[in-house]
Amino acid sequence: MRLKHISWVEGKNRYLLPVSKTGAGKFITVEGQDGAGKTTNIKFIEDVLRGYGFDVYLTREPGGTDLGEILRRLVLQEHELHIDALAELLIIFAARAQHLSERILPALSTGAWVLCDRFTDATFAYQSGGRGLPWSHVEVLERMVQGDLRPDLTVLLDVDPETGVRRTRQRSNTEPDRFEAQKVGFRRKVRKAYLDLAQSDPGRIRIVDASAAVRDVQVQIRRVIERFIGDAGTG
Ligand code: TMP
Repeated sequence: MRLKHISWVEGKNRYLLPVSKTGAGKFITVEGQDGAGKTTNIKFIEDVLRGYGFDVYLTREPGGTDLGEILRRLVLQEHELHIDALAELLIIFAARAQHLSERILPALSTGAWVLCDRFTDATFAYQSGGRGLPWSHVEVLERMVQGDLRPDLTVLLDVDPETGVRRTRQRSNTEPDRFEAQKVGFRRKVRKAYLDLAQSDPGRIRIVDASAAVRDVQVQIRRVIERFIGDAGTG
């Protein structure tokens, strides 16, 4: 990702931000179905990156800004509220637009490495794969909201749906959110969409078998991150 390439929006350079002397940072996302172990492993990735001396900006979606966190609560916690699938998609992209302009792009422009807990691959997986909205709806909004911006690297923590359900249950002493509450069939569709995405973009999306023990998962993750750092020529 180069910031120079994301000037866009009706001829205005809305996303053309000054690039620091050290150059633009990298944009890394972590994905996977609920119960895949994102929380533990994102912290691990942050530690690995900091160990290499990078300035890391850790954030999440939906959320990451004041507005985004309000929209997150709406989309995840409001069990009584009926939210149409298309409305849900638009809310998620509204949160993303705010997140990009307020946090992600400014952080990248200072040379920070942005580490984001989920991004648009989750929208393909959940709103298209899971909810059944057309893939093209997500593509249209992706282009509208992000221009050419895509993550430089995506770590996909892959587990089978049954493991995901089991881990979500074990972990949570709170009420499951609107997605965690979905049945195995929904998770199966989410997983398939993630794997389809990985197959279509293998250079960016690296699959990690997250069904193994944490230590083994982290060996795989470290390998992916160190290889990325090496390829980026910044290690
Ligand atoms: P998490 O941050 O605990 O993983 O929860 C976020 C939930 O939001 C998760 O169940 C997936 C869902 N989600 C979507 O449905 N679409 C999206 O684009 C994103 C970012 C998350």
